[in-house]
Amino acid sequence: MTTPPFVPRVFSGIQPSGDLHLGNYLGALKRFVDAQNQGIQSIYCMVDLHAITVWQEPADLRHSTRELAAGFIASGIDPEKSILINQSQVPEHAQLAWVFNCVARMGWMKRMTQFKDKAGKNAEAASLGLFGYPALMAADILIYHATHVPVGEDQKQHLELTRDIAAKFNHDYGVEFFPLTEPVIEGPATRVMSLRDGSKKMSKSDPSDASRINMTDDADTIARKIRKAKTDPDALPSEAAGLADRPEARNLVNIYAALSDQPVDAVLAEIGGQQFGTFKPQLADLAVAKLSPISQEMARLMNDPSEIDRILGRGAEQAREITAPILEKTYEIIGMVR
Ligand code: TYM
Repeated sequence: MTTPPFVPRVFSGIQPSGDLHLGNYLGALKRFVDAQNQGIQSIYCMVDLHAITVWQEPADLRHSTRELAAGFIASGIDPEKSILINQSQVPEHAQLAWVFNCVARMGWMKRMTQFKDKAGKNAEAASLGLFGYPALMAADILIYHATHVPVGEDQKQHLELTRDIAAKFNHDYGVEFFPLTEPVIEGPATRVMSLRDGSKKMSKSDPSDASRINMTDDADTIARKIRKAKTDPDALPSEAAGLADRPEARNLVNIYAALSDQPVDAVLAEIGGQQFGTFKPQLADLAVAKLSPISQEMARLMNDPSEIDRILGRGAEQAREITAPILEKTYEIIGMVR
């Protein structure tokens, strides 16, 4: 629930670390385009400050940030309609994150499953930034008073923490200043799974490249990865209930539904009874038809990095018109002399 003075505003971000993959596209990017096209003011962000919570080669980070920006634009984010930024060019994100480091409690942060997964067994060697990651994420969202955040399922816990931070700030200072932002986790592809193991999510950090479809893969690679995707021996069911104990089958059907903008039931009504030998080539054709134009456009945009830098620079100027007054007001509330 957000309270009345907050105008609807969408914010979301993606880390520029490694390649964009189909999970990012279907779970996030494609849905950002839908939000933009509904006419809601939207801000989309390459979270470069989050990326350095683990080591990044400087040249790779610079390249990945521009390539991610190209991915946003090629997928349909229009810098004339949405504000497109990289996080480090809008300093109020990091400034508000410091305030939230002082609002969030150690116990809350320790419960974050993404920290536990990423830090692994050797948490003592993880950066302090990796531990504080969710406070910066809360700042990304709340420095815009964003009311809605489209994300994949894996970000749900971070968005709950964002609400906890907003609520504690409001309570501690006796204000209704930050909205309780709504996570928007919708559609058939909120958790796209690995093509090699239906129990693991598709991820940039999976060592097997065959586990994911990268947005930069060519048509042959996409078709080969889908042909080799793990499945079971049974025919596809005609109703969603028939996918219950079949994670790999469910994943491929969900991908088909999301790519073709259809509900899962409509897809199953069409393909129910088919063997994977028949279904996989159709899925591969659909994936190539939808993704190839995006990867070609990304490559074209990457030929002119200065144009991408110009777009991000202009985005930062527009963003700061929103963020600077919100930071000022925050400092005033907490008693900083201005
Ligand atoms: P990141 O970079 O890991 O992922 C970006 C977006 O892609 C979604 N996603 C998936 N969706 C479906 N299936 C998958 N297999 C899959 N893998 C990734 C993620 O849910 C996410 O929406 N912490 C965030 C970045 C961030 C952010 C924010 C997001 C920083 N600040 C503020 C929203 C608002 C992250 O690491 O996403």
